[in-house]
Amino acid sequence: MNVILITGSCGLIGSESVNYFSGEFDLIIGLDNDMRSYYFGQAASIDWNRKRIEDTFGHYQHYNTDIREKSELENIVRKYGDDIKLIIHTAAQPSHDWAAREPHTDFSVNALGTLNILESMRKYCPNAVFIFTSTNKVYGDLSNQLPLLENKKRYELNSNHTYYKDGIDESMSIDQSKHSLFGASKLAADVMVQEYGQYFGIKSAIFRGGCLTGPLHSGAELHGFLAYLIYCALSEKKYTIFGYKGKQVRDNIHSRDLITMFDYFYKNPKSGEVYNTGGGRFSNCSILEAIDIIESILNKKVVWDYDENHRSGDHIWWISNVNKFKSHYPQWKYTINLPTMIEEIGAEIDTRLSI
Ligand SMILES: NC(=O)c1ccc[n+]([C@@H]2O[C@H](COP(=O)([O-])OP(=O)(O)OC[C@H]3O[C@@H](n4cnc5c(N)ncnc54)[C@H](O)[C@@H]3O)[C@@H](O)[C@H]2O)c1
Repeated sequence: MNVILITGSCGLIGSESVNYFSGEFDLIIGLDNDMRSYYFGQAASIDWNRKRIEDTFGHYQHYNTDIREKSELENIVRKYGDDIKLIIHTAAQPSHDWAAREPHTDFSVNALGTLNILESMRKYCPNAVFIFTSTNKVYGDLSNQLPLLENKKRYELNSNHTYYKDGIDESMSIDQSKHSLFGASKLAADVMVQEYGQYFGIKSAIFRGGCLTGPLHSGAELHGFLAYLIYCALSEKKYTIFGYKGKQVRDNIHSRDLITMFDYFYKNPKSGEVYNTGGGRFSNCSILEAIDIIESILNKKVVWDYDENHRSGDHIWWISNVNKFKSHYPQWKYTINLPTMIEEIGAEIDTRLSI
């Protein structure tokens, strides 16, 4: 039997993974305890997505397990053992602002939770492939030291700068900058996944994401800026921009394009590889630009105000360089651009708002 185990299976990336891989596996084991609603409130609950998944996929088996519960987790992994061919680990406390509220919760979920899964895997299904969703926050806010130019609607690098053409690659230092507690807990997990690859030979990839987005996101103010901005536009709620005049640049990759990266890796895996991932030059915007695009595509006015205090450790400009991944898997390419993402997210939020 071919089994896939997905943690955070009802979140954005986890549920897109369920959709994508459903045809390839006899059984999908999903772990998600809806802690997203604990972090961000009931409006961010993934309950709707769990119902959708259970209604759609007969071979989906849900566990309400908390990844911090080591023995519960081990029992599940032991039960399926070597039938587990792929683990996609996405369960996390995903917000850098929230982490400072409860550092122990953040660290135990992000760092210890990841160790629990790695150890269960090493014991009971060491030949599986392990995919971990890390973050560009592992580089801290070092990118804020780049010589940025202020344009009308965005910050940007000079066109002769090394990072201008394709963005920031994996050689950026992870030391000596402000990561946020979230960045630190994810970095602990990131290095641990690398180590299980290097030390134990586990086939594993670490995807350090910029902004990951898509219609399956349960957007919240503290996490998932594009989905939340679209939600505000459609529900006529005020959106607050925090600092940097709204000119901070993020790159956005659609969750489906990310999952196809996972698929290429799964079919031809390596051990402990680190890849930056995000929309790159293909898909990026400042918040002001995102507002313009949303207004023109969704034909809705975004009502926003401005708080001068930027989020601590926030990036002013981040564009991910995905060339390392492309050099390992030359057939992979982006398929969904920013306007299409906004249309898709808008349609999904519209449907949810009308229920
Ligand atoms: N979305 C982004 O912009 C982004 C950017 C960079 C990195 N990432 C990383 O990608 C991964 C997935 O992000 P996402 O946007 O899908 O997040 P998400 O919040 O939509 O999904 C994570 C899921 O994990 C579940 N979860 C949280 N704590 C848990 C616990 N202790 N036990 C079991 N389940 C738990 C949540 O209920 C949620 O459904 C995360 O690891 C995140 O750090 C996301």
